[in-house]
Amino acid sequence: MEEMGLHIVATGRCLPKKQLTNDMLSEMVETNDEWIRTRTGIHNRYQCEEESCVSLAAGAAAQAYERSGIAKDEIAVVIVASTTSDDMLPSAASMVAQRLELPEEILSFDISTACTGFLTGLAVARGLLLTSTKKYALVIGSEQLSRIVDYTDRGTCILFGDGAGAAVVELSDKPYLQKSWTRGNREMLYCAGVGQETQRIVMQGTEVFKFAVKVLQQGIDEILQEAQLTLSDIDFVICHQANERIIRHVQKKYKGLEDKFYINIADYGNTSAASIPIALDELVSSGRLREGMRILCVAFGAGLTWNSVYMEW
Ligand code: UT7
Repeated sequence: MEEMGLHIVATGRCLPKKQLTNDMLSEMVETNDEWIRTRTGIHNRYQCEEESCVSLAAGAAAQAYERSGIAKDEIAVVIVASTTSDDMLPSAASMVAQRLELPEEILSFDISTACTGFLTGLAVARGLLLTSTKKYALVIGSEQLSRIVDYTDRGTCILFGDGAGAAVVELSDKPYLQKSWTRGNREMLYCAGVGQETQRIVMQGTEVFKFAVKVLQQGIDEILQEAQLTLSDIDFVICHQANERIIRHVQKKYKGLEDKFYINIADYGNTSAASIPIALDELVSSGRLREGMRILCVAFGAGLTWNSVYMEW
């Protein structure tokens, strides 16, 4: 079978109404706006009140679906990447299918690779579409991280925000390459599982920071090598938005090409699986990302997992 790439037909995003500012966090833990801005680049993040992981996922998916102009019965699969879904059962994806009133003849499931989730979703969607009679997949990254953030731990609570991003994707003969990595590790980024007492994010911040700088660079370099391109051939690099300083460290390795790196963490904080699709949607809806442009998406997260994608828009 001829190898086929993936093309993003349309995107969407959905954020909770409530904003959680640095000043609000300073009333909860010993921190301040200046420290958070200079150490992370984050000015603001969103936090669910009436919303939930599923409602955000459905909101982002509905927007992407409406913009795509496709028919519901052409969707083969709904995939939600999340580690903070509303329930253990049913999956967020099945509830998104219900909220969007998709036909019953559809595959739906959630995947859990933390902040790498949306890119994992693209890999899975691509594989499934290769053998499907239907044309499209709905890939969503949605997180209600406020469920598992410890708001007494200033080392983590300042980072994370809630939100969702989504994409309708189809197979395409446009260039598409993807690389994935896994290194099992519970120490650096951890959250207890079902039935355990406290489900809160525990993180070795400095270790994760160093790991992130290294693997983002690896993701960029190895995918470029495989594509036989250099960074100057690329229009945008969209890294997982975990800390602006992580991206600034990576940028330094590509002198003169710093402008290629898209950074929007100031407004959202780290939204884990949602960060890349939110960034894509911002770029598309503001008219900056247009047909024919070449992009890299690079993510890292708990697992540990990391992943990079080269695609033409
Ligand atoms: O997608 C999930 C992946 N997670 C990440 O990518 C996180 C990666 N790591 C980071 O973003 C950074 O390591 C943090 C933002 C979490 C921490 O920044 P840092 O520059 O590595 O700070 P640090 O942990 O080395 O702490 C430096 C100082 C310490 O004080 P002392 O010991 O020097 O007196 C901390 O107690 O800053 C203190 N500190 C804070 N001060 C004010 C730590 N957090 C805060 C805070 N406000 N929120």
